[in-house]
Amino acid sequence: MSEWIDPMLPRPFRVRRFIQETHDTFTLELDAVDGAKPFAFLPGQFNMLYVFGVGEVPISISGDPTSPKGLTHTTREVGLVTKAMRQLRKGDYLGVRGPFGTAWPVEEAAGNDVVIVAGGIGLAPLRPALYQLIANREKFGKIVLLYGTRSPNDILYQKELKQWRAQFDMEVYVTVDRATGDWRGNVGVVTALIPKAPFDPLSTTAFVCGPEIMMRFTVQELQKRGLTNDRIYISMERNMKCGIGLCGHCQIGPTFVCKNGPVYRFDHIEELFGKREV
Ligand SMILES: Cc1cc2nc3c(=O)[nH]c(=O)nc-3n(C[C@H](O)[C@H](O)[C@H](O)COP(=O)(O)OP(=O)(O)OC[C@H]3O[C@@H](n4cnc5c(N)ncnc54)[C@H](O)[C@@H]3O)c2cc1C
Ligand code: FES
Repeated sequence: MSEWIDPMLPRPFRVRRFIQETHDTFTLELDAVDGAKPFAFLPGQFNMLYVFGVGEVPISISGDPTSPKGLTHTTREVGLVTKAMRQLRKGDYLGVRGPFGTAWPVEEAAGNDVVIVAGGIGLAPLRPALYQLIANREKFGKIVLLYGTRSPNDILYQKELKQWRAQFDMEVYVTVDRATGDWRGNVGVVTALIPKAPFDPLSTTAFVCGPEIMMRFTVQELQKRGLTNDRIYISMERNMKCGIGLCGHCQIGPTFVCKNGPVYRFDHIEELFGKREV
């Protein structure tokens, strides 16, 4: 948790920069109004973002945890609150509660290969983990990013993907369900990249984030390659209200996604995975 005293009280932030990432997805860079204290968080954690007078939604932090100046969130516009959030511009205010939830176990993966499998907006919650891996590159074996989107127009962070490919000791593979325009890259679902991806299944940790159906097939492909469930991590989404394990909105069986998740080791959530109402 941050030093903010009451976890139910939104802390005021102001938009420093609005970035249109794709036709329906945007990134907000935010600064705390109450001072220059850095906002410490772990990769995979989320904040409750409150658009004043409209509502509050959980959004993962997509910025760099190794240099937590300000706060960065990447959001896909789907409904009431995210549409209102899209209207915010430099200087506008937003309430922030958090950071909440569990993290991608980046440090525990030291010594191993790391494979990151992202679908669509799922790359946003994984980007902080990538920053942390890159900042500590020497501690890991291979780092492999497999990223799938619906079309080339949906690919997030295109400039960074190019940089990661070019500058770092890292394998980056992008695929799209449907090729449009002058796309010459991979076509097909992201799971199709797993059988040939260059990692050693006996010493690999996998971080997976995307729609549940995509995560289900990804886990199956990783298992086929020989990864055991205790080395596969997924990030779950459920409707949330309090964000701190009080209201029960995000409950799946005995666990609260806001507190025991959103990042789960697969063997801890396996029996509940894929069930909407348990
Ligand atoms: C832990 C956690 C982290 C999250 N991180 C992010 C993130 O980094 N970026 C991001 O864009 N979203 C993220 N989400 C999802 C985000 O919280 C929802 O998209 C948001 O709450 C929708 O609110 P709304 O008021 O705009 O839409 P609503 O008015 O609540 O919903 C409008 C319509 O969109 C549908 N809808 C709602 N949520 C989603 C969804 N996730 N995907 C597709 N359709 C949906 C609803 O079923 C409904 O039909 C996260 C969710 C959780 C639980
Ligand atoms: S959102 Fe209230 S318990 Fe998780």
